[in-house]
Amino acid sequence: MDKIQVAILISGKGTNMAALIYAAKQDDCSYEVTLVASNNPKAEGLALAEAEGIQTFAHSHKGMDRADHDAVMHDAIMKSGADYVVLAGYMRILSEEFICKWPGKILNIHPSLLPKYKGLDTFQRALDAGDSHAGCSVHIVTPELDDGPVLAQTEVAIMDGDTAEILARRVQYAEHQIYPKTLAAYVTREQDPDWILEQIRSIALALPETHEKESFGAPGFRVGTQKTGKYFAYFSRDHFERKGIALFVKTSGRDEQAALLDVDPDLYYSPKFYGASGWIAVRLDTGDTDWEHISDWLAKSWRVVAPKRLVKLQDIADEF
Ligand code: GAR
Repeated sequence: MDKIQVAILISGKGTNMAALIYAAKQDDCSYEVTLVASNNPKAEGLALAEAEGIQTFAHSHKGMDRADHDAVMHDAIMKSGADYVVLAGYMRILSEEFICKWPGKILNIHPSLLPKYKGLDTFQRALDAGDSHAGCSVHIVTPELDDGPVLAQTEVAIMDGDTAEILARRVQYAEHQIYPKTLAAYVTREQDPDWILEQIRSIALALPETHEKESFGAPGFRVGTQKTGKYFAYFSRDHFERKGIALFVKTSGRDEQAALLDVDPDLYYSPKFYGASGWIAVRLDTGDTDWEHISDWLAKSWRVVAPKRLVKLQDIADEF
């Protein structure tokens, strides 16, 4: 599998950036650093990145609108070919426009146990509150500051005599461990069968009157009652005599099935036993799953098997 390209944004020292760069030197690391960019041309981390042969870019934000500066950074990141943006001590609040261009694709490390102590002065605030632990969190960046879903956290014990500086140094040891590991796992989450199943489950069970029921060892999704429900999807993991991960959904019939196999044989195949009755397998292990497409398929398959009464209700709901 090709490595995922990441751009790291820094404003200062760049010790987290260094941890990310050195972790990426391991052959089995899932990401590689394609760019280190900064809003501060004097950021110390830039020299280290250059010495390690990584492309750098710096553009001061001084005198610029936030959105204009973000657009300059976005351009540089796009040119580098990065798939993800990793904030490592990037001390600028990003505009909503920028964040919306990278949905689910910007990660940040924050020096507190979120949701506690968003913003600045996190260590002093933890000390002042008499907390037993400080810590760090890796989270997905959303437009609300330090508010996106937390992917990982490490608690760091507060010791007698700690000052904000001493505590900050210890928390950084924890940051340097957690950030590369969390990033590496996050960028390959779409290859993790459990993560994929969770996505399928949440989309399938959001459809009306659905439930999950195992079928020959595979998770299956049905519409209707527990007793008489009908399957509209199966999640296949090395099942039904084929290695890999796929979603089985019901087509309108053999013609549609044949057309799909013809148009995109890399994405679709006819599943053993099930193919004969109009089911099609949509691969979920290609590494670039289009989740909207999967969502459409689940809804379509649901319609094929759902009772007419439910389909009618859904049609009415869809009109609004
Ligand atoms: C890190 O401790 C990081 O948690 C913090 O800045 C430091 C940067 O250090 N980030 C924030 O406070 C973001 N809100 P580094 O430049 O040595 O990696």
